[in-house]
Amino acid sequence: MKLAVWRNLDAIRVRIAQILVWGVLCFGFSRTPSAAAQADQPGSPDLTGYWTLRIPTGDGVFLESYIQINQTGEAISGTISGRGPNGTPIAGTFRDGNIHFATVRSAAPARAGATLGIGFRQQVYDGTFQGGKLVLQTQNRQGTVQGVAEKTTREAALPPAPLPLPALRDLPDNGLVRTPPMGWNSWNKFAGRITDADVRAMADAMVASGMRKFGYVYINIDDTWEGGRDSAGNIVSNKKFPDMKALADYVHSKGLKIGIYSSPGPKTCAGYEGSFGHEVQDARTFAAWGIDYIKYDLCSARNIYTSSPENLQGLYQKMGDALQNSGRPIVYSLCEFGNGDVWKWSAKTGGNLWRTSGDIRDDWASMDRIGFSQISIASFNRPGHWNDPDMLEIGNGGMTADEYRTHMSLWSLLSAPLIAGNDLRDMTDETRSILMNPEVIAIDQDPAAKPVQVLSQQGSVEILWRALQDGAVVVGMFNRGGDAIEAGFSRSSLNLSTSGDRIQARDLWKHHPVPVTGDKYVATIPPHGVVLLLVSQTRSHRQ
Ligand code: GLA
Repeated sequence: MKLAVWRNLDAIRVRIAQILVWGVLCFGFSRTPSAAAQADQPGSPDLTGYWTLRIPTGDGVFLESYIQINQTGEAISGTISGRGPNGTPIAGTFRDGNIHFATVRSAAPARAGATLGIGFRQQVYDGTFQGGKLVLQTQNRQGTVQGVAEKTTREAALPPAPLPLPALRDLPDNGLVRTPPMGWNSWNKFAGRITDADVRAMADAMVASGMRKFGYVYINIDDTWEGGRDSAGNIVSNKKFPDMKALADYVHSKGLKIGIYSSPGPKTCAGYEGSFGHEVQDARTFAAWGIDYIKYDLCSARNIYTSSPENLQGLYQKMGDALQNSGRPIVYSLCEFGNGDVWKWSAKTGGNLWRTSGDIRDDWASMDRIGFSQISIASFNRPGHWNDPDMLEIGNGGMTADEYRTHMSLWSLLSAPLIAGNDLRDMTDETRSILMNPEVIAIDQDPAAKPVQVLSQQGSVEILWRALQDGAVVVGMFNRGGDAIEAGFSRSSLNLSTSGDRIQARDLWKHHPVPVTGDKYVATIPPHGVVLLLVSQTRSHRQ
């Protein structure tokens, strides 16, 4: 229990830091006027108290955060946070009407950053006290951006009271995604910049690139589409998405399906409107728009409920139930980073897939850490219900071709959802050859969905294998080290029911047979690379 609470606090701190970073780095905030505003008065009023900082995103939405300031003389301390009790510590000065402060690393262990893949990033704020408000500036990649903080109360800065959670029960299987879902999601490449036009362009490119033919079907809009609620409480999209129904119609007209994103909390992870208290209403809205898939991201619900498995299951059951009563089949994708061993109960909430880790980044360390940590939970995969080690980074430029081949091979051996995260309009031949390798996709989509297992470990090489429905076996020889290395496995170690028969192996990246003589197969594996073999007894090979 203690551990769960501690994890929860850790995760909240990390999330708040992320929201702040997103708030100031990723959106089209208003620019600072060229002449800096002058302070109202030369003296130093006491800033001690709670402040609401509102920063315009440029898409018609304001991101809110809460600053708690303690002033002692000219020294400023306190916290800055989303709506919640556990802010990121700040330190700075207030002198002659000018305020300067920065986030500081909290005393908490660095574990959360390591787990969720998000490091501490200091955010600096400068501004002036004007007419009882703080006009604050900070930096993003484009330059200086500005928001206004007004005094508020401690109560206003706290999260809303929890709403009752339903009695836990087992929801029926919705019958969707019998094999791991395949598609595209906006977050990894576009993050908060995604627009209606981009989504349409991705749908076009999904068809034009040929990806649709290989099974990629979902076009998923991630966070930052939300605009707030109308007077009847219906969720509405923001300026970047003028007409969600029309967008869904467009995606459907391409023979594709469309996904959307929300949160059981009042705010999403990027600080936009969540579904807290509006689950049934939002599920109906999504169904009316023609949505086929929802990613439901815990985010600010962690400020309201402790992350006990029961609370998490209740939160996700609430939306699962609402989706099943929405009148439309909707794939349900849980995103709560593996808290409470989500793989053990997610299917009961109607979940089709569930994130098992923090956010992936487009680098080897992140992909390697997440990918190879999934093997022990592989047995929780079954048709309609999938572990989700996060979306693909293939084609985003942060890894080598060998590393991206490892990414695709590993995700396929894991029966992971194949949700591309790159710009589909702009793919090199190499990226295409990785995302559209039919032989590797066939491994991912094998209907038996048997769990991947470790065959052996040899130095930096990890050899994984999985039995396929037709009796063949796929073997992945992964070199997690930075130097090329020779490794091998014996045919007898595969426990092929065909032992004694002639076997053949096919290299699924080179697309040709490889000779297997004697009992041992040996190969040289490039740094961070993979040799992926389909081993079978017949001459036929999978295409
Ligand atoms: C979380 C999720 C990401 C993405 C962002 C959006 O970090 O894990 O995949 O959805 O939120 O804010």
